[in-house]
Amino acid sequence: MKVTAVAPTNIAFIKYWGARNLEAAIPFNPSISMTLTRCVSRCTAEHREDDSGPDEVLVRSPGGGLGRPAPEFARRIREHLSRIRGSFGRAGAFHVATENSFPSAAGLASSASGFAGLTLAATGALGIELDPAVLSSLARQSGSGSAARSVLGGYVEWPAGEGEERSYALPLAPATHWDLRNVIALVDSAPKPVSSREGHRRATTSPFFGRRQEILPSRLRTVREAIAARDLDRLGPLLEEEAIELHLVAMSSRPPILYWRPGTLRVLEAVRELRARGVAAWATMDAGPNVHVICPPDSEEQVARALNRLPEVEGLIRDRVGDGPQLVAEHLF
Ligand code: DP6
Repeated sequence: MKVTAVAPTNIAFIKYWGARNLEAAIPFNPSISMTLTRCVSRCTAEHREDDSGPDEVLVRSPGGGLGRPAPEFARRIREHLSRIRGSFGRAGAFHVATENSFPSAAGLASSASGFAGLTLAATGALGIELDPAVLSSLARQSGSGSAARSVLGGYVEWPAGEGEERSYALPLAPATHWDLRNVIALVDSAPKPVSSREGHRRATTSPFFGRRQEILPSRLRTVREAIAARDLDRLGPLLEEEAIELHLVAMSSRPPILYWRPGTLRVLEAVRELRARGVAAWATMDAGPNVHVICPPDSEEQVARALNRLPEVEGLIRDRVGDGPQLVAEHLF
């Protein structure tokens, strides 16, 4: 059977940074995210019962052709396919192709959408339909923890969880609850110098990591309340605090990790200038140099125009909260 899934990436409002168990992606702290719409991975998986393998993994490049993925990415995909096969006691081989609608590995959480899509397509190709908690837990086991959140739409919380099996994401509110926009300013789309995985590993070496864990319970409460009340004036400052704190921990890890580029700071400044002019706009970031500007629909145009004018900005992606992954009929092969 051949199944194609389109899975969006997500932007974390409260970040997963630091793992209790890095192999199983068990986080130190809960995280909260908004699932996006336009930044998606499309993944086609076909399962052939009588094929003894190995699994075939291809990626479609922006130019349109199918080719071999980078060895490390191929290894992670094959490992996840074996895990999926093993979880359901199945044999056979998978043929998989995947593509992203946006630059990979640039701090836009391409592994979140990639592994959410792969998990959905591969289990679908086995003829298995999973409930969201099991799908989320399985996606998480790919090692890309944020993939656990990308299997759900709208606003999502991934609690820290106790044990491996119990760690999965839960819905906080559907996309229809609150129409928030995310204008992503690309200041550098080259692959990031240090992987998130390595960042999680180093996080606990930061002198600020422990303090961050103390602060988080109250910030998590406020973010949940602000989402429930659709209150951007309350949510916004916490988004920026949280993004800066993620990078503070990264920059003070041993050895330090510097994801920011000069353009990062320029965009952060521009967002402050926008607010000084009365435009509702708040910045957040993942583990990369690009800046996600969260705003209501009536600010989006002004935000996009202001960011487009900056010479440091290579391009904008105008995204918004969305409904989560879906199965589609247009296969990649
Ligand atoms: C900073 O381990 O999920 O984006 O596998 O690269 O997607 P990838 O990273 P993952 O860590 C995510 C780190 C983060 C914060 C977050 O999304 O919670």
